[in-house]
Amino acid sequence: MASSRTEFVLVAGLAMLCSCLAIKVEYDANALIIDGQRKVIISGSIHYPRSTPEMWPDLIQKAKDGGLDAIETYIFWNVHEPRRREYDFSGNLDFVKFFKLVQDAGLYAILRIGPYVCAEWNYGGFPMWLHNTPGIQLRTDNDIFKNEMQVFTTKIVNMCKEANLFASQGGPIILAQIENEYGNIMEKYGDAGKQYIKWCANMAVAQNISEPWIMCQQSDAPEPMINTCNGFYCDQFKPNNPKSPKMWTENWTGWFKLWGGRDPQRTAEDLAFSVARFFQNGGVLNNYYMYHGGTNFGRTAGGPYIATSYDYNAPLDEYGNLNQPKWGHLKQLHASIKQAEKFLTNGTVETKSVMNFVDLTKFTLNATGERFCMLSNSDNTGDYTADLGEDGKFFVPAWSVTFLQNCSKEVYNTAKINTQTSVMVTKHSEEDAYGNEVKPAKLSWMWAPEPIQDTLKGNGRFEAAQLLDQKEASGDVSDYLWYMTRNISLKNMTLRVSTNGHGLHAYVNGKLIGSQFSRQAKGQQMVTGDDYSFGFDKAVSLKKGLNVISLLSVTVGLANYGAFYDLKPTGLINGGVLLNGKGNNSINATTYQWSYKVGLNGEAQQFHDPNSRNANWNSTKVPKNRPMTWYKTSFKTPSGEEPVVLGLLGMGKGHAWMNGKSIGRYWPTQIAETTGCDAHCNYKGSYNDGKCRTNCGNPSQRWYHVPRSFLNNNTDNTLILFEEVGGAPWNVTLQVVTVGTVCANAYEGNNLELYCQGDRRISEIQFASFGDPQGTCGSFSLGNYQATQSVAVVEKLCAGRPSCLIDVSQSTFGISSWGNVTSRLAVQAVCK
Ligand code: GAL
Repeated sequence: MASSRTEFVLVAGLAMLCSCLAIKVEYDANALIIDGQRKVIISGSIHYPRSTPEMWPDLIQKAKDGGLDAIETYIFWNVHEPRRREYDFSGNLDFVKFFKLVQDAGLYAILRIGPYVCAEWNYGGFPMWLHNTPGIQLRTDNDIFKNEMQVFTTKIVNMCKEANLFASQGGPIILAQIENEYGNIMEKYGDAGKQYIKWCANMAVAQNISEPWIMCQQSDAPEPMINTCNGFYCDQFKPNNPKSPKMWTENWTGWFKLWGGRDPQRTAEDLAFSVARFFQNGGVLNNYYMYHGGTNFGRTAGGPYIATSYDYNAPLDEYGNLNQPKWGHLKQLHASIKQAEKFLTNGTVETKSVMNFVDLTKFTLNATGERFCMLSNSDNTGDYTADLGEDGKFFVPAWSVTFLQNCSKEVYNTAKINTQTSVMVTKHSEEDAYGNEVKPAKLSWMWAPEPIQDTLKGNGRFEAAQLLDQKEASGDVSDYLWYMTRNISLKNMTLRVSTNGHGLHAYVNGKLIGSQFSRQAKGQQMVTGDDYSFGFDKAVSLKKGLNVISLLSVTVGLANYGAFYDLKPTGLINGGVLLNGKGNNSINATTYQWSYKVGLNGEAQQFHDPNSRNANWNSTKVPKNRPMTWYKTSFKTPSGEEPVVLGLLGMGKGHAWMNGKSIGRYWPTQIAETTGCDAHCNYKGSYNDGKCRTNCGNPSQRWYHVPRSFLNNNTDNTLILFEEVGGAPWNVTLQVVTVGTVCANAYEGNNLELYCQGDRRISEIQFASFGDPQGTCGSFSLGNYQATQSVAVVEKLCAGRPSCLIDVSQSTFGISSWGNVTSRLAVQAVCK
């Protein structure tokens, strides 16, 4: 009795403690009401496992400085529960710590539990044991699945509760999400899908979190779930319940990259336009997906073929640098939205068409009569001047929105960029006294062969008289699965292997007879949803008697999207192994006795670990273009604070580890298509992920992020590579990423700001012209007139400094005679 009284007092005490800090989250159609305050929210996705705990504070601070109110993240089930009921929340999986840092920065958080997440994450975030559970069907009305989903969801919610992370407990989390875009594929699951989504809603509500629950892309979201929008534009979206706030959970800031794909790019102008249009049309919450994309470390990249970099062309680049002008242009947009907040959330709204394509939305506060306007031009090509009568005439460029304070003063236009463009470069960190790059000595390498003798002899660990599904047979603990058989005794045949992908290395009697990957086999750029299966054909000379066929099947990230994506076959299942001889002489080896081995011996023996003594490292005769080879080197940490990258040109395909920590798969031989890039990317008109691509004809990913926290301060670092197809390590290089060139533009009456990064300074003014300069960053040219002192003035104000601010006016440039023309200053400078 006594103890339960103490418990009661303790619980009541805690409840009191929590309620005094508690933040109440409510909403109506026009606002999120947080602690009684009517708000619009600007949020951004940062996925905690795609960076490191050492990077988190800086990323969160930069998000805050960029004008964000909230950070959104998924929770990634497969990395937290790799084996059933064995959990891992350490290192960069410590999401509680991540949320606490968000809170410490004074930001809110949005918790997307999923636990299906898509996210270009391996297998959409589902652990493979889940798929391998007998009787289970994923994402549908199946008791075994629902039970597992509920156990995991409850676990996450309870961890949040224990750490007081919900707003009702004084924590940062204001919204939580269950499932993810189920509405997009629900039809394929029939009635069971409908039952499932109702169950999801009930299960979520029963978690009792006090915060509103959301479901994205779920137009029939059962009450009280709020359905939200994902896409490049969501201004026309309406939640199914008219009382729900209009929220945009994924405003795609760019797109993801595939091996063999070009770099996606979404302009700052178009992104800002989409956000402004959304708020003009009643939006309440906008979340950037991604605000920082980061890196797919380890085997976390989804697939097939999602690259290791998840940069996403987000406002913060993969390494955490400001992606300018995107970050700065959005920062200014956010400030203008905050200026409009009380009008957006309280005002009476009236939208009228001023002319074709041009709409004026007026927000009026009933109490005071104060006004705020948004004026949009949604034409792809035409710039217009809107006559707003007494309020004045306003020039609105095509595909832009102007914010008008008091409906009469332009404070922001989405197409007018006042932020500098920063062109990032990679360089060696060491410099001489003049700031010139000093190339370090070449790395010296050791090597070890992957021990494959056992598998070349056909010796596996288990057998089956059929070709198994790779993910089922391997539990997805490795990219590799050996399929081996040894009963064939016919001469001169052609070996035909049909595989579901994504790669195959075929050995006959201990010799590699060929390798192939999906993209190469199809001779095309692969896209998500494509069929990655292919056929491998090769003539082989079999001998009389026993022949051994050893097929190493390779996956490159498991599918993460689509109805029943989890059931997509991988490896040789449903394919077949045929041996075709002359005439009708053919053997179907598909139902032969197959021996299996999961993963590589080097993986099992931890060759990637510099402390492991299992590998036979050799420093003589370091081979070139040798498949299945481990390489090792050591080097000093590049000086300074700038992000470090590993350049892997020369290598083929494989996996890289720094001091034992995975930096992900590498594949610099996957070259992006040579056509379809757009040097003159036009922000006007609807964006899709094929528009404005860059990096044609180059390796899709040449540089690989090595977080500084993976490097040692005082001792040397060990880099270990597993090379699968063959490469040469001599050109591998470690460099830092920094701002190389900066460019900016500003019209008379504004300030032009330039800055380098860290301790770099503006070393040279390559171009400066105050007048009517033409062109864009990298290709500025003089116009018809300019102040002759342009370069001298900018040099005086900026050269040798880390940053400078120029008041763009005729007097700054010593002009007294131009009178009433509006001129522009364009500058291009080098940072060193
Ligand atoms: C959405 C999904 C996200 C992400 C995005 C594309 O469909 O909800 O998780 O995959 O597409 O980057």
